Amino acid sequence: MRLTHLSAPAAAAAAVIAIASFAASVSGQDQVPPPPVPAFQPTRPQGQPRLAPHGQGSQGQGRRGRYIAPTPRTPTGPTVKLPEPRAKSTTSIEQALWNRQTLRAVTPGPVALDDVGQLLWAAQGVTGRYARRAAPSAGGAYALEVLLVAGDVTGLPAGVYRYYGASNQLESLAPGDKRPAFSQITRFEGIQKAPAIVVITAVRSRTTQLFPTDEIADHFLSLEVGAAGQNLMLEAVALHLGTSIASDTDEKKLVDVLGTPADERPYMLIVVARD
Ligand SMILES: Cc1cc2nc3c(=O)[nH]c(=O)nc-3n(C[C@H](O)[C@H](O)[C@H](O)COP(=O)(O)O)c2cc1C
Repeated sequence: MRLTHLSAPAAAAAAVIAIASFAASVSGQDQVPPPPVPAFQPTRPQGQPRLAPHGQGSQGQGRRGRYIAPTPRTPTGPTVKLPEPRAKSTTSIEQALWNRQTLRAVTPGPVALDDVGQLLWAAQGVTGRYARRAAPSAGGAYALEVLLVAGDVTGLPAGVYRYYGASNQLESLAPGDKRPAFSQITRFEGIQKAPAIVVITAVRSRTTQLFPTDEIADHFLSLEVGAAGQNLMLEAVALHLGTSIASDTDEKKLVDVLGTPADERPYMLIVVARD
């Protein structure tokens, strides 16, 4: 319809009708509505206490009833004690958000063990009652694990380590410098020079048992990993360290390098280097 042929009030009315009709077509009001989405139904039996523990569950009374906290697992291999995490910084959360940016070139050089420990704590430190963590978790399943690939961390032999937030320890999983292998299986230039790489993994069964489909569980796990990863990357800004997510190109080879069990899937790799 050409509005130029109408009087001013008629043109205004026609314009309103045209806009309303466009809005209705955009919002789909004139289309057949989609079938209703079935209501969310948890698969676990109703009336059961919340969650099965990872290790030994500790019972408590939460806001939503009886709660069995998934107490984190304890290490079985050789361990290294990390320095205590710090709760204070001279960088505000807002400054960290302002300054966050992806590391674009790796400057070789060591990172301090207490800084690395602080990064791991930010991602998945045990921070509260019932073994709560620094990042939220779908269903409180706390499915995430955090691995450290140390290459040049002061006072720590090169190797792959698992982080244990409750005891603030690292468990050695595989000794030796694994960084050269990462240059073959990631899309990040210079990753083999990075002093540390953090890998956030998920034990999927902890979450899949809580939700009706694996698709929903995997979606929630991606969100959970994003929250933990962003925690770590903001903490890195406060520590004047640079970080970048590095996409992997071959998950099977990555699992081989890490030596992780079959039910543990790597989700996010974060390169850490001096800024
Ligand atoms: C899921 C995801 C995967 C990424 N993978 C890579 C990667 O493989 N290599 C890389 O150099 N940067 C990677 N990045 C970083 C992005 O390139 C970067 O965030 C983007 O260029 C925006 O820059 P900024 O983070 O400084 O704002 C990734 C980011 C995300 C969120």
